[in-house]
Amino acid sequence: MNAPDMKPRSIIAARMARIKQSPSNAANQRATELKAQGRDIISLAIGEPDFFTPDNVKQSVIEAMARNQTRYTTVDGTMELKKAICAKFKRENGLDYAPEQITVGTGGKQVIFNAMMATLDPGDEVIVPAPHWVSYTDMTLLGEGTPVLVPCPESKGFKLQPEDLERAITPKTKWFTLNSPCNPSGAAYSRDDLKKLTDVLVRHPHVWVMTDDMYEHLLYDGHRFATPAVVEPRLYDRTLTINGVSKAYAMTGWRIGYAGGPVELIKAMRKLQSQSTSNPSSISQAAAVEALNGPQHFIAERAAIFAQRRDVAVEMLNAAPGLRCHKPEGAFYVFPNCAGVIGKRTPDGKEIRTDGDFALYLLESVGVAVVHGEAYSMSPYFRVSYATSMEQLKEGMSRIQRACAALK
Ligand SMILES: Cc1ncc(COP(=O)(O)O)c(C=O)c1O
Repeated sequence: MNAPDMKPRSIIAARMARIKQSPSNAANQRATELKAQGRDIISLAIGEPDFFTPDNVKQSVIEAMARNQTRYTTVDGTMELKKAICAKFKRENGLDYAPEQITVGTGGKQVIFNAMMATLDPGDEVIVPAPHWVSYTDMTLLGEGTPVLVPCPESKGFKLQPEDLERAITPKTKWFTLNSPCNPSGAAYSRDDLKKLTDVLVRHPHVWVMTDDMYEHLLYDGHRFATPAVVEPRLYDRTLTINGVSKAYAMTGWRIGYAGGPVELIKAMRKLQSQSTSNPSSISQAAAVEALNGPQHFIAERAAIFAQRRDVAVEMLNAAPGLRCHKPEGAFYVFPNCAGVIGKRTPDGKEIRTDGDFALYLLESVGVAVVHGEAYSMSPYFRVSYATSMEQLKEGMSRIQRACAALK
């Protein structure tokens, strides 16, 4: 029994009220539940390639298990994997990192989480160009930091403008986060675009750069990838370059992400990981070694398939009454504007007031799951993932067209 003057306290920590469940996970979970109930659902809410992990990677794991590579490894990755990552950074990006500058975590997500938790003090500001991957802001909040959202309008191709970056920087800024190609907009920064941003950052030596290069290989129409520490070597000593095998190698379930950066930061991230998960799965690390060192040709082949799907998605969304879809440079998402459906009514008389209402309407009326733009801090938009077969994608797009045409 409680003492008379003691109110029962919630078991849940106050910090949990600051964050939300990942909305794309939530949308996808809802789609999966409806499917399980027998509904005909097309999920365009998922952020993972529909391709399979390459056979050579799967085979390497069987061999690693046969060698009993099934024990704890060093906390933030085996030396073999760190060397493979250093070789990748050198080969693909022209970036020099030594193994002690590399950290490996359970997905890029853990690496970003570690970086935030290991560096943020209460009140530290983190600049997040919006629309943005949802976790940057929630992880900042968990770390008692303050996210500073900077809108990147569609009229600028959803790209951050240097003057807006300059204005967002204050003495409290700790990190500037960059994600190119971007989830959810698909926007990718060219070398020239990035140079304009790095010119600003060079003038503010207290600001660190967290670049999330997860979609590096998913770039179309001849666009070339660029990353800040290469575009501006003067930023190398305050840049954390994050990448992983999830998207490029269709290895989302294996949970391997990594980063290169200054030793002091990498050490702090390792210390944190030593008190949470310890090492990422030993056999997943073996898989990542093979992914990074093995054949790479399929990446471009798959990117060409994604490009065709993007074109179909953009064209069909632009043909839907009330929607307008910008054609992005990369990733496997498009981020259509739905201002033209706001204020309209569904056939059963409900008003569409927000992009959240619209996403719900698509799910309920035509069984298409998408994620509303508000989840990424930009409305009225929604995110469509085209990481699904062309057949499913076309069917999904036709259903969206039908749902839009039915609005009054
Ligand atoms: C922009 C971005 N960064 C990081 C991640 C995390 O990837 P993972 O934890 O699978 O390596 C994702 C996954 O959706 C993402 O979209």
